[in-house]
Amino acid sequence: MGKNKIAVLTSGGDAPGMNAAVRAVVRSAIAKGMDVYGVYRGYNGLLNGDVEKMNLRSVSDIIGNGGTILYTARSEEFKTLEGQKKAAKHCQELGINGVVVIGGDGSFAGARALTNAGVNCIGVPGTIDNDIACSDYTIGFDTAMNTAIDMIDKIRDTAQSHDRCSIVEVMGRRCGDIALQVGISCGATAILVPEVSFNIERDVIERIINTQKTGKKHFIIVVAEGVGGVNDLAKYVEQRLSIETRATILGHVQRGGSPTVRDRVVASLMGHKAVDLLAQGIGNRVVAMKDNKIVDFDITEALDMPRVFNKNLYDIAKTISI
Ligand code: ADP
Ligand code: F6P
Repeated sequence: MGKNKIAVLTSGGDAPGMNAAVRAVVRSAIAKGMDVYGVYRGYNGLLNGDVEKMNLRSVSDIIGNGGTILYTARSEEFKTLEGQKKAAKHCQELGINGVVVIGGDGSFAGARALTNAGVNCIGVPGTIDNDIACSDYTIGFDTAMNTAIDMIDKIRDTAQSHDRCSIVEVMGRRCGDIALQVGISCGATAILVPEVSFNIERDVIERIINTQKTGKKHFIIVVAEGVGGVNDLAKYVEQRLSIETRATILGHVQRGGSPTVRDRVVASLMGHKAVDLLAQGIGNRVVAMKDNKIVDFDITEALDMPRVFNKNLYDIAKTISI
């Protein structure tokens, strides 16, 4: 048997900590005597042969950098069976028998397809959204939340000076985890997430009125991207309560920046685990964090799992943010 050759790619939306994961994959693979290739721009790199052999120094000085040195992309061609066969053929021509795919659940569906086409793949959860059901944590979540809270603390300063209400939209696609944890961390008067049904009168207006009665004059409302509508909500609050109200959509600022210690450590552990699995000839798995341990799941099992929202934390936020 020839030398074990693996590759690593980042796919879908980027997330702070992806570089730390790439670094861990490259160095763990080299430590096991494998050859390791970096694939540029997600699955597109496998289709175009945009692949480069990495060495220990290829990943120097990147652990603290946001973005991804491998770039990322969404590839329509790879979603087709022909695309998947072409990507597998390019891997086989290079002798690559395993690929670590760092991304979200779309990228994992791609990893399953590539495994079915004959190249073992391991998924590593890299997305700020924390929306991978099988994992308590996804790489980038902590950094994104810390960026959001930094921004909201600044918004609070000006909301306070002007006795205003500020409605802030945070990212998360269909997942309310960023909104929930950021909301509790900034003492938001209301947190709106897609996982919990709400009524604007009861869950926003009444909560502001009740807080006003205790003497508070400025308010932060955190809204998940999956709920949206912050501009309309700001207009409604202003008309309904005669409180000057502003809306802010934090947007892509949450996707960048130097990863936190948590993201660097988790990314390092998950990247290392992915290589460990490939080294044993195991594919079609997703690396995950469960109860602070790094574990792995079958990709299909992982993709079929329902996400559980932390309703307990949501209820506590409602009680104490008043
Ligand atoms: P994320 O990984 O962040 O969820 P996307 O959903 O955009 O991001 O998926 C990233 C890429 O993964 C897509 O552009 C596509 O190339 C690949 N992909 C997504 N879904 C599938 C699928 N069902 N089959 C094969 N490849 C897929
Ligand atoms: O998945 C990460 C994420 O930032 C989501 O929170 C958001 O819905 C989406 O990606 C934005 O995608 P794009 O970078 O294509 O605008």
